[in-house]
Amino acid sequence: MKRYFIHTFGCQMNVNDSLRMGEVLGKLDYRPTPVAEEADLIILNTCSIREKAEDKMLSALGRYRTVKLSRGTLLGVGGCVAQQEKDRLLKKVPYLDFVFGPDSIARLPEILQRVQDERERVVETAWVDSEEYVFPRADPETSRGKVTEFVTVMKGCDNVCSFCVVPHTRGREVSRAFPEVLGEVADLTRVGVREVTLIGQNVNSYRGGISFAQLLLRTAEVPGIERVRFTTSHPHDLSDELIEAFRLQPKIAPHFHLPVQSGSDPVLKRMRRDYTIEQYLERLEKLREARPGIAVTTDIIVGFPGETEEDFALTLALTEKVRYENQFSFIYSPRPKTGAALREKDWGAVPHEVKIERLERLQKMQRRISAEITSALVGQEVEVLVEGASRYNPLKRFGRTPENRTVNFDGDAPAGAMVKVLVEHTTPNQLSGKQTAMLMEPMVVPPPEVERPEFPQIVA
Ligand code: SAH
Ligand code: SF4
Ligand code: F3S
Repeated sequence: MKRYFIHTFGCQMNVNDSLRMGEVLGKLDYRPTPVAEEADLIILNTCSIREKAEDKMLSALGRYRTVKLSRGTLLGVGGCVAQQEKDRLLKKVPYLDFVFGPDSIARLPEILQRVQDERERVVETAWVDSEEYVFPRADPETSRGKVTEFVTVMKGCDNVCSFCVVPHTRGREVSRAFPEVLGEVADLTRVGVREVTLIGQNVNSYRGGISFAQLLLRTAEVPGIERVRFTTSHPHDLSDELIEAFRLQPKIAPHFHLPVQSGSDPVLKRMRRDYTIEQYLERLEKLREARPGIAVTTDIIVGFPGETEEDFALTLALTEKVRYENQFSFIYSPRPKTGAALREKDWGAVPHEVKIERLERLQKMQRRISAEITSALVGQEVEVLVEGASRYNPLKRFGRTPENRTVNFDGDAPAGAMVKVLVEHTTPNQLSGKQTAMLMEPMVVPPPEVERPEFPQIVA
């Protein structure tokens, strides 16, 4: 029996792809190992969203090279850097055995065969045409015992944001047919899953036979499903129908991740984001009217080419106005072949120190707002879906509120139960407290029919 180790970088799309790789390898009699030094096969599933992500991949490759030298481990690179660099990566990294794109996961068996039997160095980065693309169906056994799981509903991105590499690494949008999605959700409920997050780069432009709003409503009706989430969305696809779905179906969790990127209209225009701040705020207002209390999170890019102090002040003002629950903010990083990288000189690169200084100011403001939001919850009871033991303290339990706030608490509720927790302490991004009531017992999940494989080891 051989062992594999997958090191995953980047977004949830990549985490899911790594799980699918694990399933393909399982059929080849590979088993996962949590220790890279014991692996016969190491795969890096890479991200190229920012330069830093690529640097991290290169330093990890250096580490795994020593494993390869000591025990002949096969070394492969998949994901977005693989798709972008193709055979250039084999030239850059002479000890690499194979490179494969996100569309080639199902071809891993033949790739490995060629590498092993024919001693070839293989590159498989062809796109599969939209009409012919078949989404790999998740094996529910991978999720047995988990309470919350991700379900792929689409891949790729048809937008043209000038900073973003995703359209180059993941290709055109392809939606997964809705019966497929609902079938996978139903399979997951039978192994204990009670919450699903529908994922894709741009889920609200879903076109898999029904609208995205309909898909959410139908997912919420699958017996056993208590909460439905989704990520990530583009503001220009936030339809009235989607907002109505929030009004109609309480199982659609009250959290919306709506990346705004900047608070300044001229910057948004150069980013080719297709909306103004006024339009963005109008959508948000409607959403908050349909579901009062909904938690809103966002992504921000700081130091986009040509961003002035006035532009940045508008991002701060927007942050204060919306009172985001949380923000993921990044320093602009020029990416190969993207519109903004090509025009950076014309628009004016923002000096690195200025970027850092702005990022710090923004993050400080967001930490204060997050702390204000969470500290107002002290003394209140919140509904928590229990996911298991706390990561910080195995004697405590861990779960999330409908708004996706994380909670560590004293109690005895098993994973899969829904409980009430009295909030006693808070940090900007966490609540803690004690269990006060059991709202819903967990489902009884039958044991596996065959011996259960270990979960694929993923180091995200
Ligand atoms: N599809 C999503 C986001 C995908 S990437 C959307 O439309 O919003 C996740 C986040 O990374 C983006 O929202 C953006 O804030 C950030 N990002 C993307 N490209 C970047 C770049 N070149 N430099 C810095 N941050 C970037
Ligand atoms: Fe990138 Fe824009 Fe697509 Fe998001 S919608 S992945 S930011 S191109
Ligand atoms: Fe990164 Fe690719 Fe996801 S670039 S964010 S892994 S789509």
